[in-house]
Amino acid sequence: MMRIDVITVLPDFFQSPLEHGLLRIARQKQRIEVHVHNLRDYGLGKYKQVDDTPFGGGAGMVLRVEPFFACIEALKKERDYDDVIFLSPDGEVYDQNLANEFALKSNLILLCGHYKAIDERIRETFVTRTVSIGDYVLSGGELPALVFMDSVARLLPGVLNDSESMLLDSFQKGALDCAYYTRPAEFRGQKVPDALLSGDHKRIQQWREKNSEGRTKKNRPDLIKNL
Ligand code: ADE
Repeated sequence: MMRIDVITVLPDFFQSPLEHGLLRIARQKQRIEVHVHNLRDYGLGKYKQVDDTPFGGGAGMVLRVEPFFACIEALKKERDYDDVIFLSPDGEVYDQNLANEFALKSNLILLCGHYKAIDERIRETFVTRTVSIGDYVLSGGELPALVFMDSVARLLPGVLNDSESMLLDSFQKGALDCAYYTRPAEFRGQKVPDALLSGDHKRIQQWREKNSEGRTKKNRPDLIKNL
């Protein structure tokens, strides 16, 4: 079973996503266990301080070294980790290939930043991979951590019941997935393409490939080389 330890200042943020949908199923089936740690439990002094103003001045707060060091060291004492991943817009851009790669790991730590930054010494000491979920800035690493966990958990064996459906996903083949329809065959004049109703598997497959190609050309011309 895969184990993910998340370190965050917003542990409650993870509650609902972990208890619904795919992550809930993956946890129920014991394909993944997720442990969420409150950074504030390792905070300093009476007020359990976790952040401070940046040296050199400027706006925003920086997460301090001591709480992260205490939490990560406590985890590493218990077991070995394949990677300590920091979610940050300055990391390598996440994609399906990275999801496939991380789905093969056993133990991962995810560090969620917040406020302006985390002290660079945390990154220098522990972080083995920095991952960005895209070229836009979020207020913290919590949503990226959830994106990461959802995308990885659905690749673990036995999580999706139709193992084919994950292999046919957009990007798993390097291009976008085709359009899908279900009953009724006609709704307010909008008809399902004839090929899909034909029962002719070869014709259906050809339609799907063509539709997939058309979508990729239209929406993601940068992926055409993968077709
Ligand atoms: N934290 C803030 N923005 C982020 C992003 N785009 N990817 C990963 N972590 C982030």
